[in-house]
Amino acid sequence: MNLTSKPVQEIFGDVVCPGDKSISQRILIIGSLLNCDINVSGFLNAKDPLSTMAALNQIGASINKDGDLVRIKKRSRPFNNPESAIDLGNSGTGIRLLTGFVSGLNLKATLIGDESLSQRPMSRVVDPLVKMGKKISTNDGKTPIKIHGGSISDNFEYKMPVASAQVKSSLILASLSSGNSIHIEEPKVTRDHTEKMIEYCGGKIDVQNSSEGKIITLHKSDLSEISSYEVVGDFSSAAFIIIAALISKKSKVLIKNVGLNPTRKGLLEVLLGMNANIKIVNQRKTCNEICGDLIVESSNLEGIEVSDSIIPNIIDEIPILSVAASFAEGETVIKNASELKVKESDRLKATSDGLEAMKIKHDMLCDGLIIYGQNNDVTVSKEIDSFGDHRIAMSFLVAGMRSKEGIIVKNCKNIETSFPNFLNTMNALGMKIDG
Ligand code: S3P
Repeated sequence: MNLTSKPVQEIFGDVVCPGDKSISQRILIIGSLLNCDINVSGFLNAKDPLSTMAALNQIGASINKDGDLVRIKKRSRPFNNPESAIDLGNSGTGIRLLTGFVSGLNLKATLIGDESLSQRPMSRVVDPLVKMGKKISTNDGKTPIKIHGGSISDNFEYKMPVASAQVKSSLILASLSSGNSIHIEEPKVTRDHTEKMIEYCGGKIDVQNSSEGKIITLHKSDLSEISSYEVVGDFSSAAFIIIAALISKKSKVLIKNVGLNPTRKGLLEVLLGMNANIKIVNQRKTCNEICGDLIVESSNLEGIEVSDSIIPNIIDEIPILSVAASFAEGETVIKNASELKVKESDRLKATSDGLEAMKIKHDMLCDGLIIYGQNNDVTVSKEIDSFGDHRIAMSFLVAGMRSKEGIIVKNCKNIETSFPNFLNTMNALGMKIDG
């Protein structure tokens, strides 16, 4: 599916931020383990959370959608081995978190995904789970992941070799679902929704912060029942609206209910350092997660040297940050971001290809980008390929507003994995995106 984004001078209005994808997936998993009736509001009704929901139902959970609510029901029977392979589609979070969760439940299962997921590294979760005692095989580190047996050891200690919340969460969920404790050292701090949700549900989890990062200890925990859970908005989806407002000429938008977890909102810090006009109002806490409303206005952005330590915090926002940097005066330097190469596409190359099509001067490094921005509209002569990656597609559709004659982005179907209402939301604010 190709989409075209036409030039637009301003966007204006209010929008409610779509539900957080990471949190939506986690509440399904942790909620099924709690084994009580839970009404989930604010759930992201998108392909990735829905494939996680289907996967959990395959192993005996009882979760259904009821209008805007998701109802997790008390199970009538224990979790069971799935009858067929569990297909997580495009979702890295789904497959990695469930590999840990299913391992802890002592089930035998095969986990697979779509073409993109089949190319992504799975050893990062499988290797530590094998060290914890599981028997798991893969196709040379890729899917299918086959969980054969074995059991999770107690008091496992692990120092994270990669900055990955999916790996961290997978190991924590394996320990939680097997009723064990675990101790994880995380030198580079990543999103902590799993820890926050376990704490919210009464689990015993300690987090020590130091200059060396975080040390997370999950103690043996009996979680308490909850009856409802409200998912806050997804900062990573808000990022597209924020940058559309910042780079256009006369915009002002209010984005309501945006998740502002400190391990997720690093882009705000970067943008403020680029001279962005963004205000946070109505900050509050919902289900142990900070959230608030954002008022964003057009700004004359300036280039920035992004600090290495913030990279794990902004990893999903680097494609759209690169678009902001393209229209900022001066140089923006992003390094230490080689994880971009193993996302839904090789996001380093996909972003560089898109910038090249926009004729934005930049250097692609082995682990980042240097972008030489200028505050002029661009002429784009060729179509930009999103490589089937939702965040690449949305980033270059946002860039289209600053093009002289529009930008055609190829392969946009996977926008439905994280932000199915992207077109309607952006067009209601004044953008001109269509098929
Ligand atoms: C996620 C963690 C990040 C992020 C992904 C969602 C999560 O991946 O890129 O979109 O929900 O835990 P990594 O753990 O691979 O960095």
